Amino acid sequence: MNAKIPEDYQITNPIKADQYLINGELKTWEGKSAVVNSTISSTEDYKPTHLGSVPELEESQALDALDAALNAYDQGKGLWPTMRVNERIDCMEKFVRKMETKRDIVVKLIMWEIGKNLSSAQKEFDRTVKYIYDTIEDYKNIDRNAAKFEKHEGVYAHIRRGPLGVVLCLGPYNYPLNETFALLIPALMMGNTAIFKPAKFGVLLITPLLEAFQESFPPGVVNVIFGRGRVLASPIMKTGKVDVLALIGNSKSANALINQHPKSNRLRLVLGLEAKNPAIVLPHADLDLAVSECISGSLSFNGQRCTALKIIYVHEDIKNEFLQKFNQAVDSQSFGNPWDDAMLTPLPEPDKPQYIQELIDDALDKGAKILNKKGGQHFDNYIWPAVLYPVTKNMRVYEEEQFGPVIPVVSFTDINEPLDDMAESNYGQQVSLFGKNVDVLAPLIDTLANLVCRVNLNSSCQRGPDVYPFTGRKDSAKSTLSVHDALRSFSIRTFVATKDNPQNLEILEELLEKKQSKFISTEYIL
Ligand code: G3H
Repeated sequence: MNAKIPEDYQITNPIKADQYLINGELKTWEGKSAVVNSTISSTEDYKPTHLGSVPELEESQALDALDAALNAYDQGKGLWPTMRVNERIDCMEKFVRKMETKRDIVVKLIMWEIGKNLSSAQKEFDRTVKYIYDTIEDYKNIDRNAAKFEKHEGVYAHIRRGPLGVVLCLGPYNYPLNETFALLIPALMMGNTAIFKPAKFGVLLITPLLEAFQESFPPGVVNVIFGRGRVLASPIMKTGKVDVLALIGNSKSANALINQHPKSNRLRLVLGLEAKNPAIVLPHADLDLAVSECISGSLSFNGQRCTALKIIYVHEDIKNEFLQKFNQAVDSQSFGNPWDDAMLTPLPEPDKPQYIQELIDDALDKGAKILNKKGGQHFDNYIWPAVLYPVTKNMRVYEEEQFGPVIPVVSFTDINEPLDDMAESNYGQQVSLFGKNVDVLAPLIDTLANLVCRVNLNSSCQRGPDVYPFTGRKDSAKSTLSVHDALRSFSIRTFVATKDNPQNLEILEELLEKKQSKFISTEYIL
């Protein structure tokens, strides 16, 4: 073991995870397992580290998980979808308290499995725990607001939000805990049942949480399966029995799954997909601020964020000054292992450096140059971010979502150039706009707000704080996520209505008094 790895973060024994969760039972898998390696070396001479293995389940386990979720939902009659709000909250609170005890191991595995640095790995865990507590509070609020009757045009109505059914939940590798749980938790909170399959990377870190799921929720409410998407998710979708596809990933895999579902109107989509968020640097911008925000926007977690700045438009008048400062800033970033808390850390996908190299080669062939000295330098598990300029539309790095350390730069003289490019693009998540002149900013903000869903003024793009809406246009998203919006996305308005007459009033009063219906209730929890 490399002596430079702090003791707390060393991998002493590989983790042979052989369990999965179906119908409240932690089953032991005796079939094939998938090896989990880290691109981070444990020895002085570079060698990937063997972290352990997870089950590689097959179609029949996937269909068992679906059956378990369907049975737990039981066409809306199940224990979970009909449970009283306070009881569902009790289960969620039990889960989050158990989850909190697993912080150290989960943070350690986030670092090893996906190379996220220590402070970001800790933030991912803590942010997720906070998200769960905030979800519980928001759910209470939704419930409080629904604990009443309305009357319009002689019709009484008791309106609530009800679950949708069975949710298939697939998360990404870059936020293997946070983004997946930001789907799963609100889906469960609203009374849905779920099948959850972790991503290819960031999968071992889910295994310490299996018991917490098992012990906190009724059987079949959460089913956790491990294996390949094509083997597990496709047969589940083909049955047509899934009510919600909740996926954070890319639009190609989302579309492939959606097309396999035979009942398109049954299927609700909650999708967070790819993006190519631009930064636009205007002539009057504060350049030091723009540089530092563009660095964090394009390079935090090596650009492996859907919200990362993936192309920079800089006005011709300040291009040279901006690029000089920016190139220096890129080359002065620290590279190291996650526990060194370096800004740049190993890439979890072994073939990513090669892919980034291909983007660079293609851009160089078509007339771009690497502007920074270290740009494109190879390490065993990394490639130093290259600032590429001038980038043109025929280059792959202009078109593709690089999701890694390479920064394409385009210069412009007329603001309509970046605006036209954004309108033409298949993506529409966010933009970062750098400038100080309000007369210029005002009309631009008005246009940009109609091209994307978040205009970040003199700030890098990001998802958080999680109370804000997170969504996108075109191929970037479907539905809106935030603590509050996610609860809405995973539910539907459903209500009981009755005409105002003495007999109906009497029945309503008796229903309220006898408290036999969990739906009809004017009680709420504070
Ligand atoms: O991968 C996309 C994430 O939602 C980005 O979240 O902006 O908090 O890094 P973040």
